[in-house]
Amino acid sequence: MSGLFTPFTLRGVTFKNRVAVSPMSQYRAADGIANDWHLVHLGRFATGGAGLVFAEATAVENRGKRTHGDLGLWDDRHIAPLKQIADFIKQEGSVPGIQLSHAGRKASERRPWHGETPVDDTDVQERSESPWPAIAPSALPYATGWPTPSEMRETDIQAVIDAFGAAARRAHLAGFEVIEIYAAHGFLVHQFLSPIANQRGDKWGGSFENRARFACEVAKAVRASWPETLPLSFRLSGTDWLDGGLEIDDIVRLSKLLGSLGVDIIDCSSGGIGGKDRPRRMTISQGFQVPFAQQVRQETGLPTIAVGFLWDAHFCDQIVRNGQADMIALARELLDDPNWPLHAAQQLRPEIGHDAWPTEFGWWLDKRDRLLTKLGLRSGAGRQ
Ligand SMILES: Cc1cc2nc3c(=O)[nH]c(=O)nc-3n(C[C@H](O)[C@H](O)[C@H](O)COP(=O)(O)O)c2cc1C
Repeated sequence: MSGLFTPFTLRGVTFKNRVAVSPMSQYRAADGIANDWHLVHLGRFATGGAGLVFAEATAVENRGKRTHGDLGLWDDRHIAPLKQIADFIKQEGSVPGIQLSHAGRKASERRPWHGETPVDDTDVQERSESPWPAIAPSALPYATGWPTPSEMRETDIQAVIDAFGAAARRAHLAGFEVIEIYAAHGFLVHQFLSPIANQRGDKWGGSFENRARFACEVAKAVRASWPETLPLSFRLSGTDWLDGGLEIDDIVRLSKLLGSLGVDIIDCSSGGIGGKDRPRRMTISQGFQVPFAQQVRQETGLPTIAVGFLWDAHFCDQIVRNGQADMIALARELLDDPNWPLHAAQQLRPEIGHDAWPTEFGWWLDKRDRLLTKLGLRSGAGRQ
């Protein structure tokens, strides 16, 4: 099995390595429109050597934003600023991806640094940001103190499915080459999947097949608007970590269904359905979600992405070599070091020097290394 720095192909797209930038919401957009912040935020991961750069959760409907600062793709005017970003990522040899999202009952939330609690009148006074009504499979609030969402009618359900399809069409026009559907962390698709948030008695709730119907319809709508040559990913929570919630066997079963509908890779995260408190069953360690990626991969034959508390290059390389996952997604480690892929490649193979770096940086860093070695100020090349 090949390692982290070998190419990987899905449909007509080849990633130069197995490092993906996990979607990271910046809460920095106005009216869903990307700006220079998003270009720099995502652009530096492309120059930092990642094989796949995912843009953050991007709302397919205005009411499906999580916060006032979310990116959106519910209107054609969102396309051009995103295209500039996708074009830059491609120009730097990486693949641009985008995560499509609907927050459902998690809509109208404050940004993390404003408390991650529901928007209310104080936000109107402080930031001129008003709350808006949320929709969900069932009229069950996300957590204590959260407003009760309205139960989606058949017309709402169809409108959101269509919105995912329309956003996929716009993502293609914007030049993205991978779409990921946000079906984890308690967002709308996950709300339909999990019995904790879905207590409907119609064809959209109850049995596993009924709860999976919305995810499957979203997959079909996106596939119908997204070129055959381009891959489609689903981010799933491998478990809800809660009794009565989804377990990994449900996720394996769902992944098989999604695979039959043209989904190419499963991004295996966990949790998020029932409020902000960490569930008692959830214990965190380096790579604690890797077993979900491994089990989905083994039992479905679909490629997977492993994510969550990963930072060590050798550890990540082994996950790929052991066949536990096909790609590794990093978030916080990349905020700390956007050049992590370049540094990780050097750690695994010091002899490559700065070969993989953009020439504008690598030429100088190689020259400095030679001088440092000559002066006896540093032994060998690279960072120490
Ligand atoms: C700033 C930030 C924003 C995030 N936004 C999203 C998001 O938009 N979509 C998503 O699926 N996960 C989001 N996440 C979760 C990450 O993608 C990732 O799954 C999680 O942070 C675990 O990976 P890490 O340990 O490498 O940070 C976010 C995480 C961070 C730190």
